Amino acid sequence: MGAGMILVTGATGHLGANLVRELLAERQDVRVLLREAAGPALDGLAVHRVPGDLRDREAVRRAVAGCEEVYHCAAQVSTSSGGKREIHDVNVVGTHHVLAAARQAGVRRVVVTGSLSATGWRRGVACTEEDLFYPFGEHTPYTVSKMLAEHECAKAAAQGLDVVIATSTAIIGPHDYRPSRMGRLLLDFAHGRLMAYVPGGFEFVSVKDVVSGHLLAMRRGVAGRKYLLSTHYHTVEEMLGFYGEVCGHRRLLRVPSPVMAGLARATAPVVSVLAPRHEMRLTPAAVGFLRSRRRADCSRAITELGYRPTSVRQAVEEAFACFVRRGQIDGRRTTGALRSRAGRSTRRPAVRS
Ligand SMILES: NC(=O)c1ccc[n+]([C@@H]2O[C@H](COP(=O)([O-])OP(=O)(O)OC[C@H]3O[C@@H](n4cnc5c(N)ncnc54)[C@H](OP(=O)(O)O)[C@@H]3O)[C@@H](O)[C@H]2O)c1
Repeated sequence: MGAGMILVTGATGHLGANLVRELLAERQDVRVLLREAAGPALDGLAVHRVPGDLRDREAVRRAVAGCEEVYHCAAQVSTSSGGKREIHDVNVVGTHHVLAAARQAGVRRVVVTGSLSATGWRRGVACTEEDLFYPFGEHTPYTVSKMLAEHECAKAAAQGLDVVIATSTAIIGPHDYRPSRMGRLLLDFAHGRLMAYVPGGFEFVSVKDVVSGHLLAMRRGVAGRKYLLSTHYHTVEEMLGFYGEVCGHRRLLRVPSPVMAGLARATAPVVSVLAPRHEMRLTPAAVGFLRSRRRADCSRAITELGYRPTSVRQAVEEAFACFVRRGQIDGRRTTGALRSRAGRSTRRPAVRS
């Protein structure tokens, strides 16, 4: 295709690693901003590497210079209540740096990855891009930073930059090298390390869908607009059902969400003092997201971009297959769909969708 040089920030992350692969498959020239050795996420990929941190204005300017298009996917992703300064500096100041550099370099369009958490919502109603974020709720620093990053986009758009926000929901799928929160959950499930779950639900997006949504936003999006990208809303039980189908089913303890929320509130401050660098799974915000059962309406992306969501079940299967290929899950010891296709039987599901 050849759109000129394309910069991807966050290329070592879950979304970025998949986006870069898709752009390379289209034979695009891809540049990535890397703050350290990339690790396996970019192994063997023919990308132009520019060292630098989003917080370093000059490094960002060097990375953006000469690019035709920019996908700004990088962020400090967190559900913890700590790390406010770093999260702000990376997600808000970093986004400001990318947008200012893009304006200066005459970039044709910037697509910035947003988060559903920074979109307004009401219980029981699918939110749209027009729902305003309520700033006085109990928000994590990450959520506030993603809302402020959108504000930076609006300011840049008002100054004449062509910028589009592609808003992601909870991502699941292959090339998850970190691995992500959803990926770790799948690994724990596969290894029998997940004992309990909290009921609830959320919007999940196949990483393939969120990548295609970003490409469509770049090619067909309206400047200054935001697009919600989700594949499907699923309850926690449905997600665990998918995990069971691919890994083999397990019996898990269902812990009522108020109990889990209380536990999270009690343990989070202790862990943050005793092990400040430990990334907690059970944070009050993570439980809160599931309890909120928030839903997203992707009609705008479907009608304006031609976005076609696929299947979360399929994304779980692809994530699993990728973990098996990389030796992070022993495929021979699983009893799920992937194994049964190879001739083994499946057990009855303990968690049903
Ligand atoms: N994952 C989800 O479920 C989800 C849901 C909603 C929205 N989103 C949004 O989607 C985007 C991608 O998320 P993800 O899940 O792919 O994230 P991820 O796997 O955590 O990756 C984050 C990426 O950002 C880079 N990064 C972090 N701090 C940086 C800094 N100071 N300078 C330069 N690069 C930096 C990381 O590079 P290093 O390798 O150097 O750390 C990594 O490449 C983010 O904007 C996130 O807010 C994600």
